[in-house]
Amino acid sequence: MKFFIDTANLNQIKEANDLGILDGVTTNPSLMAKEGITGAENIIKHYVDICNLVDGDVSAEVISTDFAGIVREGEMLAALHKNIVVKVPMIKEGIKAIKYFSSKGIKTNCTLLFSAGQAILAAKAGATYISPFLGRLDDISYDGIQLIEQIVHIYNIQGYDTQVLAASIRNPVHIVKCAEAGADVITSPLDSILALLKHPLTDIGLEKFLADYNKGNK
Ligand code: G3P
Repeated sequence: MKFFIDTANLNQIKEANDLGILDGVTTNPSLMAKEGITGAENIIKHYVDICNLVDGDVSAEVISTDFAGIVREGEMLAALHKNIVVKVPMIKEGIKAIKYFSSKGIKTNCTLLFSAGQAILAAKAGATYISPFLGRLDDISYDGIQLIEQIVHIYNIQGYDTQVLAASIRNPVHIVKCAEAGADVITSPLDSILALLKHPLTDIGLEKFLADYNKGNK
């Protein structure tokens, strides 16, 4: 399972990258705004900065909602760097655009995806990735992990190449459950990735090992 970080914060991207386990980055307009990155020019520059930090796929989201606009924006974004993946919303015009991008060899990430039916359509259109938002489903009392399991199952029996990129991760248990469910990728905030490191017995055990080692040095 690949690990992407879901942020536009360059320090956090660098910290995750320095761990040596980072495979890519996802962003969205809300994550950009959170970092104070606004205006087309600044946003575009920020995508390039991210691509220069991480050697892996970087999702850059279109804001157009009509076919011609999505294509225009997506082609511009894809031309910024070889690692850019055009993030396209799960709408009718988006599906048409994904089909177009797929025919041109431009990688896509179909976002705002909340059902198995949407996942089938995106795969049929040739999406490179789909982003089911599992945390947002949990928020409204639907089982987000169950959706990941269902989509992985369908993609396996249908032989679809589209990769399941589990998004809207809220905690380390989500990451473990996605691995169990067979997700191809998770995209997560840094704190949930770092939380995977933690176990109280590791801390207690290490403290004891170091204390015992130091006894011998006295
Ligand atoms: O990148 C999209 C997705 O991960 C959003 O997450 O926490 O806003 O639901 P969240």
